[in-house]
Amino acid sequence: MAQVAIRTEKLVHTYPRGNVMALKGVDLEIYVGDVVSIVGQNGSGKTTLVRHFNGLLRPTSGKVYLMGEDTTGQSVAQMSHRCGYVFQNPNHQIFCTTVREELMVAPRNFGFTEEQTQKSLERVCSLMNLEHLLDKHPMTMDYTTKKIITIASVLMFSPEVLVLDEPTGGLDEVGRRMLTKIIRMMHDNGHTVVIISHDMDYVAENSSRVIMMAQGQILDDAPPDKVFLDAEQLKRAQVEPPQIMQLDLAISGKNASSAALSVEDFVRKYKR
Ligand SMILES: Nc1ncnc2c1ncn2[C@@H]1O[C@H](COP(=O)(O)OP(=O)(O)OP(=O)(O)O)[C@@H](O)[C@H]1O
Ligand SMILES: [Mg+2]
Repeated sequence: MAQVAIRTEKLVHTYPRGNVMALKGVDLEIYVGDVVSIVGQNGSGKTTLVRHFNGLLRPTSGKVYLMGEDTTGQSVAQMSHRCGYVFQNPNHQIFCTTVREELMVAPRNFGFTEEQTQKSLERVCSLMNLEHLLDKHPMTMDYTTKKIITIASVLMFSPEVLVLDEPTGGLDEVGRRMLTKIIRMMHDNGHTVVIISHDMDYVAENSSRVIMMAQGQILDDAPPDKVFLDAEQLKRAQVEPPQIMQLDLAISGKNASSAALSVEDFVRKYKR
């Protein structure tokens, strides 16, 4: 049996402001080593859900388990050490005046020694090409670089679970390739990755499982080739399938039992 990284049981979250019930009893299991994407319209509850994984939000009712442990009573520091969360907007995450400080702040807070912090810094800088930026002010950088820095600051403490909230938004092509490299590396090293995204092309190519949300509930939870073929559920969630899949379905017919998830799949299928 695969080990469970995240489990929610009947998770309800109501924001006091406006009395909005953003999660309406979500039952979910994410397994260790999974690369899972959460998709759904604006306001469907994606961010609210993942903020329970590291304690930024607490259940109104229901339970959240992280790496097999009930998180009731655990501090944000305890939870976010095991589950690193990269914010949707890097401007909401960056608060230090140099990239070096930004990268070192979390490991120091989590009790790393100076030597361990330094080792992490070297590892992350060489992985993400950041050495030349270490003494610069992160807020002076372009959006992609800021986003890469926020991902790097979480990789500094190698969380067991990495949550990326809209990681491709505003990223240029170099940034996208870097992101894909990081996700694959985390997966290869046995970490769990949760991606929230509106970018269905990216989701189809980079996740093994898609959780589709609408109005605070999970509508569908399956591999991308299944989720993106379910026209009825897609309509309910107001989610458009990846472009390459739409093209394939336009050619092969809407009732096809499979469709290409990537350009490579498509070329392979039609070259035959
Ligand atoms: N701090 C808050 N106070 C009150 N209501 C909130 C708050 N944050 C979110 N909401 C509401 O909760 C619901 C779910 O919001 P959430 O941000 O989780 O959605 P989302 O799926 O992440 O959307 P997006 O794709 O736009 O990021 C929405 O109705 C939203 O307006
Ligand atoms: Mg969101």
